[in-house]
Amino acid sequence: MGRSGRRAQRSDGARRHRPRGLRASTLDSLPATHRVSVHETATRRNAEFTFLDDTGHVTATKTLPAAQTAYVRDAFDYDSRTSSYQKYRRESVDLLPLRRGDVVLDVGCGTGLCFGLLEDRVGPAGRVVGIDASASMVELAEERVRTHRWDNVTLVPAPVEDARIPVTADAALFCATHDILQSQPALENVFSRLRPGSWVVASGGKWASTWKAAVNLCVLAVHEPFVSSFDGFARPWSLLESFVEGLKVTEVAFGGGYLALGRVAGAPGVR
Ligand SMILES: C[S@@+](CC[C@H](N)C(=O)[O-])C[C@H]1O[C@@H](n2cnc3c(N)ncnc32)[C@H](O)[C@@H]1O
Repeated sequence: MGRSGRRAQRSDGARRHRPRGLRASTLDSLPATHRVSVHETATRRNAEFTFLDDTGHVTATKTLPAAQTAYVRDAFDYDSRTSSYQKYRRESVDLLPLRRGDVVLDVGCGTGLCFGLLEDRVGPAGRVVGIDASASMVELAEERVRTHRWDNVTLVPAPVEDARIPVTADAALFCATHDILQSQPALENVFSRLRPGSWVVASGGKWASTWKAAVNLCVLAVHEPFVSSFDGFARPWSLLESFVEGLKVTEVAFGGGYLALGRVAGAPGVR
């Protein structure tokens, strides 16, 4: 069983000093029926989202200030700001068919809000490996690990794309990690450390049907601080589909969110 705390590998994190900004790619990635215009103010760049229905009728508009992603800017507020998401963290972990003693990767673990849920499932004989690029989020995750005296949690403070993952794992959790799910190198690295037959769960926000403007306004407000780009937000699991067999996706939150379960090919037997 591994000791707690971070390993030798360190990183300032993929986005730690990257200004947030709503970039062209963010705006381009919105579904065609979400027409977008951008205007500048003297001090910051704002983004105006105009939601249209299929006939081109404007159903809602919203202007958001550009900002850094919230886990870089306000890591200390992250837990309280996302407390309503805890229900989905629990549902995500419940979906994973974990056994006592299993090793599980919490990919993009943030402040470690899934650690307790995973610990309950894998027990002291199991192991949780949390990977995250944001130094400020990892510091809070370390504090959580110390407080709970989880000596079987290992933190890897690095971008998932080039993190040295110190285990071969039985399962992986991607909870509210849209940016990571859009990264082929990140998925390649994670899946290189999963055993054949490993279970994988992903969950997070997504665009609802284009006619659900009210839902999409909520989706925009809730997720905008926590994603670098809305690229792929209509089907956030698209890339993941090529890494697992039979990905089953369930919509939640009136179509504004999803839970997905899949399995790495080559399972030795039915579990
Ligand atoms: C919205 S938070 C989710 C945190 C946690 N899974 C939860 O349920 O609260 C997304 C996390 O992914 C991390 N992240 C984003 N891109 C990353 C990357 N390429 N490598 C490592 N971590 C990344 C961020 O630092 C952030 O902590």
